[in-house]
Amino acid sequence: SNKLILKPGLEGVPVTNSSICDIDGNKGKLLYRGYSIEELSQKSSFLETAYLLIWGELPTAIQLRDFEQEVQMHRRLSFRVRDMMKCFPATGHPMDALQSSAASLGLFYSRRAIDDPNYIYNAVIRLIAKIPTMIAAFQLIRKGQDPIQPRDDLTYSSNFLYMLTEKEQDPIAAKVFDRCLILHAEHSLNASTFSARVTASTLTDPYAVIASAVGTLAGPLHGGANEDVIAMLEEIKTPENAASFLDNAIKNKSKIMGFGHREYKVKDPRAIILQKLAEELFIRFGADEMYEVAKSLEAEAIPRLGPKGIFPNVDFYSGLVYRKLGIPRDLFTPIFAISRVAGWLAHWREQLGANRIFRPSQIYTGSAPRDWISLENRK
Ligand code: CMC
Repeated sequence: SNKLILKPGLEGVPVTNSSICDIDGNKGKLLYRGYSIEELSQKSSFLETAYLLIWGELPTAIQLRDFEQEVQMHRRLSFRVRDMMKCFPATGHPMDALQSSAASLGLFYSRRAIDDPNYIYNAVIRLIAKIPTMIAAFQLIRKGQDPIQPRDDLTYSSNFLYMLTEKEQDPIAAKVFDRCLILHAEHSLNASTFSARVTASTLTDPYAVIASAVGTLAGPLHGGANEDVIAMLEEIKTPENAASFLDNAIKNKSKIMGFGHREYKVKDPRAIILQKLAEELFIRFGADEMYEVAKSLEAEAIPRLGPKGIFPNVDFYSGLVYRKLGIPRDLFTPIFAISRVAGWLAHWREQLGANRIFRPSQIYTGSAPRDWISLENRK
């Protein structure tokens, strides 16, 4: 029969072939272009990983140097973008500021020349280079200050932390931050990446592709969860309260933020690495009492949610790392975007390589054809 079967949330429905990222949700394995996330987060840098994701192979030393230099050269924002950002309300969420500013790049650089390899290369460079500068700029602007210029002597991650905090950070802090970017760079057909591919499939410009992905990442069921986790830990307050918090949440059918994943039925491999990174920071820069609350919540969740395959996801420990680096909570999700732009761009290129516009179908559940009712006769 040709009866249509609906899969809510497209669970288990393939929508494309892809050679970018592979997830084994039962074994807790994640590979970018065949390389394990454990190895990449130890041995690579974010820019090298971005290159790997977008162009498909690890760069040679020369390719990496050129890529790093190009990104460095394009870090600055046009004064027009900065002036536009100065008109944003200081109380607005930084994800909304990022979505608007990323979209605005299309006003400056769009040529819709997506069949030109140079245009593609330059768009990749600009987006990777400018997104961190935009986030740091909004942070200073909303405090009433002028954004500061990027510093050419600093690496990608050190420079971002410098532009954000106006201080040069400890190299260990910058390294930990860079490793967080590697961990968040790609994750197959999550909602924002799917959104990027749908937008890409219309052959619009890459700034529109990234702006729609940023808007999708912002929601609390997706990237927005990392900021909600800290709010939740602060509400729980002490490790002793974790059990009753969980019992209440389960009774009220509310979701525990930072837990559960469509793909993983075990602890997210990125959460395992992020927890270690958090511990490294606590040893070096002092403990965080919320970490004790987080560990207790995880332990108490095992008997309660573990049997359903619900374990900590990437967002559970990332906020504790960023908090220790002195980053304000509402910048956690924009930082996720700094990193995920690599995956989005990889999927943009892959989509263009074998494009067919996304146009799924629906199962109509509305009214049968009926007669028009004039305004006087409506009740
Ligand atoms: N806490 C409590 N119960 C949960 C949770 C949770 N965090 N996640 C799933 N469940 C339960 C859910 O209530 C449902 O139970 P039942 O079958 O008895 O009704 C069952 O597990 C299946 O849940 P679902 O919502 O249908 O699963 P999904 O695959 O549609 O959703 C998810 C995946 C990540 C949206 C969901 O687990 C969730 O909302 N988690 C909390 C928000 C969060 O941490 N999001 C970050 C996701 S990871 C990376 C990222 O995108 O940032």
